[in-house]
This record gives sequence, structure tokens and C-alpha cells, in this order.
Amino acid sequence: MIELPGIPFVDLAAHHAPIREELDRAIDAVIDASQFVRGPAVAEFESAFAAYCQSENCVGVGNGTDALELAIDALGLPRGAEVITTPTTFVATAEAIVRTGFRPRLVDVDPDTWQLDPRALRGGLGSDVGAVIAVHLYGTPAPMVEIDRLLEGSGVACIEDAAQAHGAAYAGRRVGSLGRVAAFSFYPGKNLGAFGDAGAVVTADAELAERVRRLGDHGRAGRHRHEVVGRNSRLDTMQAAVLLVKLARLDEANARRRAIAARYRSGLDDVPEVDLPVEDQDATSVHHLFAVGCDVRDALSEHLRGEGIATGMHYPVPVHLQPAFRDLGYSRGDFPHAERIADRTLSLPMYPELPDGAVERVCDTIRKYFGAH
Ligand SMILES: Cc1ncc(COP(=O)(O)O)c(C=O)c1O
Repeated sequence: MIELPGIPFVDLAAHHAPIREELDRAIDAVIDASQFVRGPAVAEFESAFAAYCQSENCVGVGNGTDALELAIDALGLPRGAEVITTPTTFVATAEAIVRTGFRPRLVDVDPDTWQLDPRALRGGLGSDVGAVIAVHLYGTPAPMVEIDRLLEGSGVACIEDAAQAHGAAYAGRRVGSLGRVAAFSFYPGKNLGAFGDAGAVVTADAELAERVRRLGDHGRAGRHRHEVVGRNSRLDTMQAAVLLVKLARLDEANARRRAIAARYRSGLDDVPEVDLPVEDQDATSVHHLFAVGCDVRDALSEHLRGEGIATGMHYPVPVHLQPAFRDLGYSRGDFPHAERIADRTLSLPMYPELPDGAVERVCDTIRKYFGAH
């Protein structure tokens, strides 16, 4: 029997191979100039990425978690404020709220789209709420028009957690331009990934951007003047140079992710045991992840592994059931939709270089497992 090659979950080497020389040249130029912090590539990337997001300002920072923390911090919310978000996200979203001294108030997701549920948000809004973090989960934008409508005139700021959604759009506008401020991660496996940790804050508000820049650069307001107690979280010149090379190819890579997602959708169409999040007509996803729901998730994942197909889970434990967030006082049963998703979610291989044949093989393996033909 011929053994088929394995299908990895992501393949960064395949992503970098065709642009390797360009990446090498960009890195060499940084080494030659030896301006490793605040070098020219940083400002160049910041302006290119702000334009890409259809926004005005971008501040490069150390990673996506810092981007969230700095965005929250720069908003200057009142002491004791609560920040609403969903339990269906990477812990960094809630972590950033706690680390900046605020309290996460969680609201459930929509059982169909798996995104923040505007009805739950309406129920969660109250006088203590200072901001909402809308997570664009799996690269699919949260329902930003309805969120905007709910927050209009309330003074509650909307922060986009766009860590998984570079290039995604809602009702024709790119993420990063949809809320008051947005946080991006450039963790290597993201749609736009650096060669290490990196992130950015994007906002149309120049003053807010300046506060973020200052907070992430030791509160600096001049060479030897420090206006506020800040911290050190800056985008490296080397990472900025790498990101500039990759940004030029992001749309092409996202288009390929969409084509792969369409193939998965049609390939799994007649497998009733597997369900997919319902697509919001206004949302243009960039499919950072391709997650499906399945009652026998763990058994299916094991079976796929045995067939050489790697999978992931995003995320098997919702935020409110993580030991780190025990103090929030939530328990099982508080967010039934988030809990059901966590129990059933399975992420299939997804990266732009994934060949059509591999997508077919994943679908066929799942179909055979459930006995569909
Ligand atoms: C939804 C979400 N928010 C925030 C982050 C944090 O980004 P970083 O890992 O760059 O700190 C991530 C990264 O995995 C994420 O997926």
C-alpha cells in the first residue's frame, strides 16, 4: 500500500519558499543599516498597514496581546469599568482586560454564527460598561453594524480584536476601520505573520494612536521626557521589514483561503454529522481557521490523525471555565452556546498553500468516517 503524505495543520515553510529571496534581502537590509528599533521599515509598515485597513493610523507593538492592552489603556476608561467580550476567544482577549485593571463581563455567542450575539450584548450593557471587545473569530468579522447600532450614543467604545482577521471586511469595510480602535497580532501563523511575536494597534483617531505610541514607548514625549508611566512594547525593524514583504501578498493568500473554505463547505455539505458556522451575508471572512462542529469531535480528530491529517481546537475550554478566570465567578451553564461550541469545535487544515487535492482528501476521510458517499 502506498502511504499518503501527511497533511499538516499549517505549513509556514511552504508559505515562505516562493518569497525567500525577497525576505532574505529585506532582513539583510535591516542588518546592514543596524537600526533594529524604530528603523525606517517600522514607519513604512505602519503607514502601509493603516492604508490596508482603510484607516488612518497604525502603531506597531510587541504582540497582539500588548496591542489589546495598549488599546484598552489608551482609551482611559474610568476606574472599575467593565469590558464586555465573549467566552469563545483566545484567553488573550480577557487577559488584556484584567491586566489593564478592568473586569471582563462575558456575553454568549450566537449559536449559528459562533460570533458575538448582539442580543446578548444588549442584555450585557449597563452603566459600568466602558468598552466592548468584538472578536473577529476565525477570520470572520463580528456583526459590526448591529454592534455599532447598539453602542451608538452610549459612550461605550468598541475595540476590535482583529488578531485573526487581517483583510476581512464587514458590509464592505475592512476590519481595523470598524470600531474605535483595533488590535492585530502578527504571530507567525496568523494570516499576516512575522518571524516572531509582533502586533499593531489601528485607529482613525490620531490622538488615541499617539497615546498608544507613548504608552508603548516608556511614556516618552521627547528624548528625555516621559509624560506617563508607560512600558516597552514596540514593533522591531526586522519584523516590520518581513511584514512589508508579506503584506504585498496578503490579498492573494486570503483569496486562496476563501477558495479552500468554499471547497470544504461543498465537500462536507452532505455530512449531517458535521456542521459549520452559518455565514453572515455582510461578512467577508479571511478564514484564519476553518472550524467545524461535531458531536464526536475527539474521535474524529483521532481518526484524522491516524490518517495523517493534523487538526486543531479553537478553543476547547471557553474563557469562563479557565482556572485563570475563576475569580470572575462564572460556572458551567452560564454560556451554553459558547460551551457547546467548545465541546464540539474542530479546526481542519487551513493555509493558502494547501493543495485542492489535500482538501478533497480531508473531506473524503470525514465522509468515509461517517459512512457518507
Ligand atoms: C483572538 C486573539 N486575540 C489575541 C491574540 C493574542 O495575540 P498574540 O499571540 O500576538 O499576543 C490572539 C493570538 O493568538 C488571538 O487569536
